[in-house]
Order: sequence, then C-alpha cells, then structure tokens
Amino acid sequence: MHDKLPMTKREFQSADDTGHNFSAGPSFADILEARMSRRSLLKGSLGLLSTAFFVPGLARGKDADRPDPPPPFTLRFNPVAKSLADRVVVPAGYTATPLYRLGDPINSSTPAYANDGTDTAASFQYRCGDHNDGMSYFGLDRAGKGWDAGNSERGILCINHENITRIFLHTPAEVAAYNVSARVAAEVDKEVHAHGVSVIEIQKQSGAFALHTASSFNRRITAATPCGLHGPARGHAQMVTAYSPDGTQTRGTLNNCANGDTPWGTYLSCEENWAGYFKSGVATHTAQEQLAMQRYGITSSNGSYGWANATPAGDLHERWNASVTHASANLDYRNIPNTFGWVVEVDPFNPSAAPRKRTALGRMGHESCNCAKVTAGKPLVFYMGDDAQNEYIYKYVSAANWDPADTSKGLAAGDKYLDHGSLYVARFNADGSGNWLKLDITEAAIAGYATYRFSDQADVLIHCRLAADALGATKMDRPEWAGIHPVNGDVYVTLTNNASRGSAGKGLDAANPRYYQDSKGGKAPSKGNVNGHIVRWRENGSDPTALSFVWDVYLFGAQAKADAANVNYDEAFYQAHINLSDLTDDNDFSSPDGLWFSRKTPGLMWLQTDDGAYTDVSNCMLLAALPGTVGDGGAVTVTSKGVPAHGDADQNVSTYVGKAPGDQLKRFLVGPKGCELTGITETPDGKALFVNIQHPGENTAAADIATPAHYESHYPDGGTARPRSTTLVITRNDGGPVGV
Ligand code: FEO
Ligand code: CA
Ligand code: CA
Ligand code: CA
Repeated sequence: MHDKLPMTKREFQSADDTGHNFSAGPSFADILEARMSRRSLLKGSLGLLSTAFFVPGLARGKDADRPDPPPPFTLRFNPVAKSLADRVVVPAGYTATPLYRLGDPINSSTPAYANDGTDTAASFQYRCGDHNDGMSYFGLDRAGKGWDAGNSERGILCINHENITRIFLHTPAEVAAYNVSARVAAEVDKEVHAHGVSVIEIQKQSGAFALHTASSFNRRITAATPCGLHGPARGHAQMVTAYSPDGTQTRGTLNNCANGDTPWGTYLSCEENWAGYFKSGVATHTAQEQLAMQRYGITSSNGSYGWANATPAGDLHERWNASVTHASANLDYRNIPNTFGWVVEVDPFNPSAAPRKRTALGRMGHESCNCAKVTAGKPLVFYMGDDAQNEYIYKYVSAANWDPADTSKGLAAGDKYLDHGSLYVARFNADGSGNWLKLDITEAAIAGYATYRFSDQADVLIHCRLAADALGATKMDRPEWAGIHPVNGDVYVTLTNNASRGSAGKGLDAANPRYYQDSKGGKAPSKGNVNGHIVRWRENGSDPTALSFVWDVYLFGAQAKADAANVNYDEAFYQAHINLSDLTDDNDFSSPDGLWFSRKTPGLMWLQTDDGAYTDVSNCMLLAALPGTVGDGGAVTVTSKGVPAHGDADQNVSTYVGKAPGDQLKRFLVGPKGCELTGITETPDGKALFVNIQHPGENTAAADIATPAHYESHYPDGGTARPRSTTLVITRNDGGPVGV
C-alpha cells in the first residue's frame, strides 16, 4: 500500500498510523456492561463531576508512605505562541543552537556534507543519519573512558535515526528515476546507512557544546551493522536465517524510534515501524506464519523502499526479502522479520561491542523503554508502548534483583537484567483499576489460544501481540513514550491519536474514551481520537512490580477552541466536549508523542508532539509541564451524541481525568515546517537540553526536488538549502537550568 504513495516521507510515515489488531479483545459490550454497574455512581451529565474516586478493593487515595510534595518550583518562562514559521521559536531568554544535522561527519576524514544528493553511500557510515529521534546523554569520567553520571561538560550522545526523507538523500535525476520495484544498489545502501544510531562524543568548547570529531567513541550503527540476538529467542528456530543458521545474529537495527537508558549506563534503542521495510512474500509462508505476519503488518509486496529489489544485488539486499525461496530457513531470509522489532542495547563506552537485541522484552512496534525507580535488592522494571492503532502497553520485570555493584558493567549487566524476566501487558478496567497480565506460555489463555498455536516461550515473545490478544489486554490509542515521575513513581504514557477509534469493532472504553471529528480548513475532517491523550497510573503500593494499579487520564490533547468550532455530526456520533483538560492558547496541543521527566529537576515533564491534525494552526511543539498525581482530578462522563437523523443513541463513557493543568503546562518551543519534535535529554546540571527537529520539510513533493523554492522547509541552513533533521542544544541565556 505504501508503495503507491507519493515519493516523499509520506510513503512510509503512515506505518504507525495503521492497525493490524484484528483480535476480538474485550468487546465494547463487555466494557459497557462493566460501566453500567457504576453508572449510578455518576450523574451522567456532561463535564467534570465532583464525585470522588471510588474503586472497590483499591484505595484511590494517597499511600501513606508515598512521597507527594507540592511542586517546589514553577515554569519560569513565558509561553511561546503557536507558529507556522519555518524556524525554531523559543521563549525570551533562551537560545536554540543546531549541534548535529543530517550528514554531519563524525570523523575528520569524511568530507563536509554537500547536501545535494551526491554524498556517497559509503560516507554515510560516518555521517549523522536521517530523522534524529530518541536520544540519551551519558557523561564521561575524568579519564575520558567510562561513565560519570554527573559530568555536564563532556559526554556521549546516543541518537536514533528512525527513518529517511528519501528525496533529500538523492540527486534530482535519481529522484525522478525512482522505481520501488527496481532500485539502484548504491541508493539503497545510502538509505540503509542513514538509518540506525549515532554514538558521538560532545564537549563544551568556549561554553558551547560541539561534536568532538576526533573521539574514539564516535560510531554509526546502521541498518547493516551486525547485532547479537539475546534472551529467550536466541537460537530459536524462528530466528534462523542464511546469515545466521544458528539464529544468534542479525544485521542491522531499523526504524529506531524512541529510547531508554539503563541503571548501568547503556543505551536502549527501540525498533518501531520495521514491518513495512520487508518484501514480505507473505503468500509463500505457512498458514500460521501468514496469520502472524498479518498481525504484525508484514504484508508489503516490495518493502517500503524496495531495498530487496536492488541491482546489482548482494546478500545485504536479498536479506530484505522475507519470502520462502529455498528448501529450508537456513538458506533464505524467510525469518528475517523475526530478527527486528526489539529493544536493542548499545554500550556507548565500548565502540567495538556489537549491539544486543533483548528478546525478553518482546517483539512489537517498540516506542520507548523506560526504567522505573530503581531500588537496590529489587527487580528492575521497564515500561514500553507498542505504537500502532489499538496496540498495547507492556512492562518487563527482571528476574534478578538490582545490585548497584553492576553499575558500569555494560552489556554484561544487560545480559543479567534484560535476558531473564517476565513480560506483562496492561488491562485498563472501566472502574479505574488496572491489571498486569503475564505473557507466559504457562498461562492457560496463551497455551490454549486457538487463533495461534504457540510452540514455546520464545514464540510468545516473538509474537507477544498475539499473546496479548489471547489475554484480553486493552487496545490503546497508539502508545508512544512512557515516563516515570521521579518523585512519586506515577507512570505516564502518551497515546498519540487513533483514527480508527470509534469505528466498527473499535469501540470506546474508559481509557480510550473519545470519538469525534475535527474539521480543518476545507479538508476532509479527521476522525476518531484526533488529538490524543496521556494516560497515567500508580502501581499498587507504589511498587513497580505490582500486578494491579489505578489509573486516570492526565491530559487530553485538543485545540483550545475545539468545543466551539467542532460541531460536525454527519457520522454516527460526535463528541460534545473535546477540550476536557481546559487547554488554552498557551498550552493547547495535539498528538503527544515524546514524554520525558527531567532528572535534574524532579517533577519537570517535557512533552513533544508529532501532529498532523492541528498543523493548520501550528507546527509541532515542545511543552513543559508540572503534572500532579494520579487521582488529583475526578470522574467525568464523556458524552458522544448520537445523530437523531440516524436513529443513534447517545454514548456516555465514564472515565477519570486529572486536574486541569492551567499554567502548570506551557508551550516552550515550536519547530519549523513539516517537522516532528522528538528525542530529549539533558546534561546532569539541567543547563543544556537536547531535542530533535525531525524531518523538517517532509511534505515536499518528489516532483519539486529540482525546485528548491518549492521545498516546504529549508531548516536549519536557510536560503535554498535542503532541510535536515537536526539535534538542537537549548540553553538559558543567563546560564541557568532550562524550563524552571
Ligand atoms: Fe516513531 Fe511512534 O513514533
Ligand atoms: Ca481543527
Ligand atoms: Ca514517536
Ligand atoms: Ca509518533
């Protein structure tokens, strides 16, 4: 399907805005029934009610031993206005400076970036890749060898390169000749090398950060770099390929979206929309394999960029063909998609160490992977979203208890904590409680699942979406980043939007309660959960390993004037009240994606948008927030009005929404045209904030590649330059911490 789209980033961008979850799951009727039992508790009318939370068996109040101090600080900047300009807007008193742009060399022997499509494929093994995304900063110790979590002057940045804006990597003639079913190998190789991860050393020079091109830490990991397969699926029959007949290795990491880091100082890079890259050959597979491929969206006829169709072809191109072409799996690449879709651990301090794919954390469209508050002697817990329509939220609990002596042990610590543990999936109940369901072959619902017959626990992890279906997990509105409030341990997950919510079989539920339409300047209206929301929960007893939790919706995205402007009801339902968090012109936003808590300033949360719905009014943005706690708001009934002419009844969905943020949420930055704001980290002193301007100008038409005046964006270089994904450093002009 993507193959037919225009030759811009759009050819692939929609990959996470699609859904492949055909499982029945808990039906709308089940949820409605559960809700009816508590409807008498609510007044059934529109808007926020003062009804106190009441959840049988679970106290929604505060844990006596749970730290819950008032925010000791405020957001000390004036919010910036929404903007459609082709530039970065930051508050007065702040400066945003490009640090690392698409094509920048990471060593002194690679020439400067020409940025006209002539830069070679080989050189991209030593250049900044495209679509800078999730990233982490690791301070370097005095010897310049290991990790010093306190060094704000010199450190290593690990930066994901999620995808490419293909037309800006090639010459106008090459772009004009593009044919997805007959690719030129050198062009494919450049695209492969523009994916992956950058590991770069940065140093403060004359008070400002700069790339240290002479550093021995600098390296590019690409979609061709050898990676180890580790954990329960290592060596499994479903991981066998012609490259690795014993199923222990693969080449490349792909569509590296968001990220995480570990208490032992390594980087976690998460593979998101990898499924579309493969020439699937789905019809050549067994019936059960076909079902699994459909469930993961591995159905493309050519792969999104036709990498399997390169001439002259080599083994590195043939591996993108997942068809059954030979007598056995060790002779072809039928299993290659099973070696993608993982959390990948990278040791920033060991340039010769191959990345390790951690299969215990499950295979999905991984967004981020974030460690809960760490306690010595207790297991480590990581939270993860699977970003596609109607997918799930997961957590991983290590078998080993955390031993602080493992700090700085690198990938060996990863082997200990990330290869042995339990994977759970979340169910959000209508009464405001929730449960973690174990994805284990010994669970009766998994062992006896009729839709897909799991062979063993590795199969459960390779196909954890199917195992989660079997358990009846809650289908969410595209789970993106997770973040853990460092003071009270509340867990936040962005649900960016869901165009299918409210359609047949995708009913509303308490945790995904909105269906509406958003009209936009003469274009067809967006439908579903158009602007997204942020769910949060508190684990029972504030223990990250707990199997139950209480939840609410921290924040609903909306345009400030949504309730006045959107009264369209040509469909079955329209929602009468969209701006449920009372957003204003200072903080309204759509499609939350990046979410990250400052480590320097505990309780300061950053929020980034990847929007297509509100972009008639503003480019994507970065906001700062001081969120409260789970349960600080109240119960609300979200009313979707039926259209009388259609004979539809009203739908009332009861949910829980946090206290309206007011001035505890402010817009901090607006990006240039056609970009997404994504990726965020800071120096330990909080005085340098790093964020990424991803794919500025991505809506440029391929037909315009020879006409620079028609490019959507020229950011950051200006003039007639091709736009470049860019890592920014943001500082306060008086040298203070950013945001507060
Ligand atoms: Fe790559 Fe779901 O964002
Ligand atoms: Ca609108
Ligand atoms: Ca994202
Ligand atoms: Ca996104």
